[in-house]
Formats: sequence, structure tokens, C-alpha cells
Amino acid sequence: MAMHEDFDKLRKEYTVAGLMEQDCGNDPIALFGQWLLEAIRKNVTEPNAMVLATATKHGVPSSRMVLLKDVDHDGFTFFTNYESRKGMELEQNHNASLLFFWAELERQIRIEGSVSKLSRSDSENYFRLRPRGSQLSTWVSRQSKVVASRATLVEQMEKLSRQFGDDEIPTPPHWGGYCLQAHTIEFWQGRPDRLHDRLRFSLEAEQFWKLERLSP
Ligand SMILES: Cc1cc2nc3c(=O)[nH]c(=O)nc-3n(C[C@H](O)[C@H](O)[C@H](O)COP(=O)(O)O)c2cc1C
Repeated sequence: MAMHEDFDKLRKEYTVAGLMEQDCGNDPIALFGQWLLEAIRKNVTEPNAMVLATATKHGVPSSRMVLLKDVDHDGFTFFTNYESRKGMELEQNHNASLLFFWAELERQIRIEGSVSKLSRSDSENYFRLRPRGSQLSTWVSRQSKVVASRATLVEQMEKLSRQFGDDEIPTPPHWGGYCLQAHTIEFWQGRPDRLHDRLRFSLEAEQFWKLERLSP
């Protein structure tokens, strides 16, 4: 197959920054926070958007974007429908990965670990903060199931909106948060001539991370 000639014009040199061991510290969660802040300050589009990859118990993978809503030493938090495809896969197989790519900073972060559900009260606390329209749509959407038409969804949304009136909308039982507790976090910084920097933190013991450089 001939390579599309336009692809060749897309060649880009990475020159924005470098990543050296001495600048990383020994806490990858802190470094992640620093990089996220830099992405926000650079006005990267949806800086908290990340690819979440899951797999079935047989190892068949799937991926999609979700939004990071919190991060600390307990893990990386996102919210979704527990009965969606990702929810079903996480039920069978708690191993998952997250991926951030911030083009303007020429940076990628790969995160691997194990996912568990947030407590009900943490999910409810976040649900209360969501705009009313988003709260309603979590009741309407049977995420990842086939739906007859868009009109069906819109009708259900209007019907539910009338039913709830001005009442508080409760958190649906099928909706909530997950937290990915990382065991591996790799920071990638693009460099000239494809001689990129890759530094990988691996969790060796509680709060003790081993740092290694990987070949680009
Ligand atoms: C930028 C972006 C952010 C998204 N954030 C979320 C999110 O936080 N939670 C969610 O359930 N879906 C989110 N989605 C939709 C998912 O990518 C996906 O379509 C949906 O969750 C169904 O995935 P599944 O069928 O694999 O379960 C987002 C999509 C985009 C493009």
C-alpha cells in the first residue's frame, strides 16, 4: 500500500522542552499535577481529557475518551455509566490504562493500574455539582446500548424534565465514579530527531517509585 503523500508533509520536529531525571522529583503524582497545570495554562483544548483503555476478561481491548475529575495519591478519578461497555469491562477486568496527549507541550503521559468504584457518597457529592441537563441525561442514557432514534432520547429527556419539575434529581444507581490506582506512570517529552525523553515510574512499595529511562 502506498503511503498517503499528505502524511509525509505532517512530519514535525519536537523542540519545546526536555525531561531530565533531576527535574522529576520522586513523586509522579506531583509531576503529573505540574504537567496538567502547565497544559491548563497553555490553553490546551480539554486538558483533562484522557483515553481510557479497558479490556474484557479475555483481553479484548477497547478505548474511549473520558474526563479526569480528580487526582491525588488515591488515584485518578472519572465518572461514567456503570452499565456501559467500559463499565462491563471493568467489572470483568480491573486492569486499565489512561493516556494524555498535550500536543502544544509535545507531551504524553501513560498511566497503568487497577480500577475500583468510588464510594456511593463520593459519586453522589459529584453528581450534585453537575448541571441539571447533565443530571437528566444520565437518567435517560442507557450508555452504549442501541437506541431507536435521537427523537426517542429527546422525548425521554423532556418527559423526565417534567416529572422532576424543580425537585432535586437523585444520582442514578447505574452512574458513578471510578478511581484508577496507578502502578506505572510514564512521562514522554518529544525531542529533536525523534530522540525523545521517556521516564517511567514504577511503584515498588507504598509511596516508593522506581525511576527508569526508556529508549525512545
Ligand atoms: C472529550 C471527551 C470527553 C468525554 N468524557 C466522558 C466522561 O467523562 N464520561 C463518560 O462516560 N463518557 C465520556 N465521553 C464519551 C466516551 O468517549 C464514550 O463515548 C462513552 O463513555 C461510551 O463509552 P463505552 O461504550 O466504551 O462505555 C467523552 C468523550 C469525549 C470525546
